[in-house]
Amino acid sequence: MAETIPDLRGVPKPHAYAELKGHSAAILDGVDDEITAMATIVALVHHAFGHLWTGFYRVAVPGQLLRVGPYQGSLGCLDIAFGQGVCGTAAAEMRTVIVPDVEKFPGHITCDARSRSEIVVPVLGQRGGLTAVLDVDSDRLNAFDSEDQQGLEELVSWFAAK
Ligand code: SME
Repeated sequence: MAETIPDLRGVPKPHAYAELKGHSAAILDGVDDEITAMATIVALVHHAFGHLWTGFYRVAVPGQLLRVGPYQGSLGCLDIAFGQGVCGTAAAEMRTVIVPDVEKFPGHITCDARSRSEIVVPVLGQRGGLTAVLDVDSDRLNAFDSEDQQGLEELVSWFAAK
């Protein structure tokens, strides 16, 4: 496999995400395994941008429970209930949640005390149901915006299209 992870820090976000989408599509060409895809997308996003924590929480019990993995970064909380924290809110409401300052999000779950801001994107499967959420954490305040939302939502559209 010739693919390497580009360093996209400082690159305008739309361009950076387009490049990651290209890498992801090339690596996952012919792949039909969700965990392989999750691990690949997490590695690309985490290292290209130098995030603090990047990972999936998969739906373990529909409508009730999320379970961690695959991820990159320090140890993640293992289980998160739907409706709990940022991940559980994104899962319960099936919408992307951007948190500019985690201290101002009631119920935020702290897995790594260095986390200052985060974005959580729902991952839909082929039948439109929730498969997982993708959680990205930064050690900087206000690190994520609508360009991250669009770029990450496009990256995880792989799971609906595969
Ligand atoms: N902060 C998340 C929990 C997951 S960790 O950040 C890896 C939340 O509030 O859902």
